[in-house]
Amino acid sequence: MTRISSILITGASSGLGAGLAKNYAAPGVHLVLAGRDSARLEATASACRDKGASVATGLFDVREAEPFGAWLVARDEATPFDLAIAAAGVSAGTGDDDRPEGVDLAAMQVRANLLGTIHTIEPLLPRMIARKAGHVAVISSTAALRGLPYSPAYSASKAGIRAYGEALRALLAPQGVTVSVVVPGFFDTPMTDRWKGPTPFMLSLDKMVAAIRKGLDARRSRIIVPRLLALGSQAADLMPAAWGDRIMRGFRFRIEPGR
Ligand SMILES: NC(=O)c1ccc[n+]([C@@H]2O[C@H](COP(=O)([O-])OP(=O)(O)OC[C@H]3O[C@@H](n4cnc5c(N)ncnc54)[C@H](OP(=O)(O)O)[C@@H]3O)[C@@H](O)[C@H]2O)c1
Repeated sequence: MTRISSILITGASSGLGAGLAKNYAAPGVHLVLAGRDSARLEATASACRDKGASVATGLFDVREAEPFGAWLVARDEATPFDLAIAAAGVSAGTGDDDRPEGVDLAAMQVRANLLGTIHTIEPLLPRMIARKAGHVAVISSTAALRGLPYSPAYSASKAGIRAYGEALRALLAPQGVTVSVVVPGFFDTPMTDRWKGPTPFMLSLDKMVAAIRKGLDARRSRIIVPRLLALGSQAADLMPAAWGDRIMRGFRFRIEPGR
């Protein structure tokens, strides 16, 4: 197992990012944590310090490439990242009576999820390539495997992240940089609290964090958890489109407005 000593995690003020930060926190580990909510980000940082990690924090909106990119480069100069996890993300969906999301809500999700991931990873790549070392993890979703009718832009943003990560992985492996594409199903966080509808094979946050950590420690190319939900989504994608659409419509849900 590779010894990790310097780790960037975005979305560290809540859910998966906070869970991963606390899981990695240990003496000898330096964590660079990003989020937007200062109180929740500080709560994560404090819990990580209590476990013996050193922690630096930054409040940024990942939709804005600058000044976020300059901060990432400065942090990487100070303590070169062994691992960068782009976990920040948002979810939304269609309105009552299946009203489409509209430009603003749809674009916001693509900006935060897809562009936010790109804004996190791209500034670090030339530096990791120069070192011929580094590990990048992007967080996609099973929504990337077969679009969810009630969350079109989220599905598109996560499919974009998956394609971006797969492409980078092939490009960067010969240059000494590892890319892991994480494809989670449902797990329990404030994001899923707003999800009103079926959540098949839902995992606790702790179980999802442990599964992702295990995959990252093994530097796996793809980390798909749980496999059964992903297989179901892939099956719906392989069958005739109208059949798949009917099945996907059966999983009706609404996503309540975020905080
Ligand atoms: N929960 C699930 O079932 C599930 C399933 C598949 C994939 N995922 C993915 O897993 C990741 C984490 O989700 P979660 O469930 O942990 O959600 P969460 O509890 O709502 O946490 C989302 C995190 O992303 C940050 N964030 C959101 N928009 C941001 C922005 N524009 N700029 C900077 N930070 C931003 C939030 O920061 P603030 O709170 O400080 O604003 C928060 O730290 C997301 O990429 C999500 O799409 C989740």
